[in-house]
Amino acid sequence: MPEADRGPDFYIGDIPIYGRLILAPMDGLSDATFRRITRHLGSAYSVSEFINTLDFMYSKVYQRKRLFNHEDERPFVAQILDNDPGRMAENAAYIQERFKPDMIDVNLGCPARTVSGRGAGCALMKSPELVKQIFEQVCKAVSIPVTVKIRLGWDEHSMNYMEIASIAVERGAKAVALHARTKKMGFGKTVRWEHIAILKKAMPVPVIGNGEVCNVADAKRMFEETGCDAVMIGRAAKANPWIFSWRDREEVSVEEVFYLARYQLRQMLEANPENAIMPFRKYLKAYLEPYNLPREELKTLLTLSEPERLFALIDAVQDRLMAETN
Ligand SMILES: Cc1cc2nc3c(=O)[nH]c(=O)nc-3n(C[C@H](O)[C@H](O)[C@H](O)COP(=O)(O)O)c2cc1C
Repeated sequence: MPEADRGPDFYIGDIPIYGRLILAPMDGLSDATFRRITRHLGSAYSVSEFINTLDFMYSKVYQRKRLFNHEDERPFVAQILDNDPGRMAENAAYIQERFKPDMIDVNLGCPARTVSGRGAGCALMKSPELVKQIFEQVCKAVSIPVTVKIRLGWDEHSMNYMEIASIAVERGAKAVALHARTKKMGFGKTVRWEHIAILKKAMPVPVIGNGEVCNVADAKRMFEETGCDAVMIGRAAKANPWIFSWRDREEVSVEEVFYLARYQLRQMLEANPENAIMPFRKYLKAYLEPYNLPREELKTLLTLSEPERLFALIDAVQDRLMAETN
């Protein structure tokens, strides 16, 4: 049913949200083209890759690439990452004015050493006082809803997600996304959804659950087990953007997969003619994985750098796979 014909599933501040599955922000993956694709397939809104406000003002590349978005992706959320409250507030205000996102998200979950090593991302969860200042200042600096994305805490012994979420919400955050792992758990298999349920019970704002949702059954189970308002899906979306239409990869036909691959490549070429093929290969590899293509063929598909030849080979592989399945 078109969004306009049905009521919103929930609100973030005054923004109506249609749908309960959301593409997670992913550095190097959730670019404007992929976000647009997943949004069309059902993702409820789009979140940018993190924008490091440490050097944002001086970086033309960031501005162009990370904040570029399509009108049909809205609601569009710009995610900021830093550890200086004043700089974050100043940048958030600038981003709102210049790029017109619908919301600002603050990243308190990034575990990368380059980020947490300088006290940003997940390292902020060790500094509640700084988190207070960040939300006080950022929420004051913008007139759109501010949200927060956190982990459980730094490690098993310091799982302070409740404290951090409360600090953010008391100072104005309108939704909390919880990646149910500690920083030390990285992206490993261990995930503790029970804490999403605990947070959901305590929060007066929407809680978005995240972590190790690999298929539709997992998404349903996360809703059942945690009562969360929405489920955010990261890595599994790379091979299966159809998950946002509540479909597993096995249910998606060869024709649909190849149609989407061609569409994505065309869009990426349009957005960035000089540098589209390299980033496209990550998705193509994931899309093709289930078909067990001959090694040499896969290698050619993932190394060709001329768009016309790549399109031709994609067509040929599709024809063969379709002939095989008929
Ligand atoms: C390659 C990659 C890049 C990521 N970049 C970001 C980011 O820019 N901002 C953010 O908040 N989280 C980022 N994350 C974390 C994801 O949003 C998500 O929390 C995490 O992958 C867990 O969800 P999943 O198990 O469904 O993948 C990234 C994760 C991956 C794998």
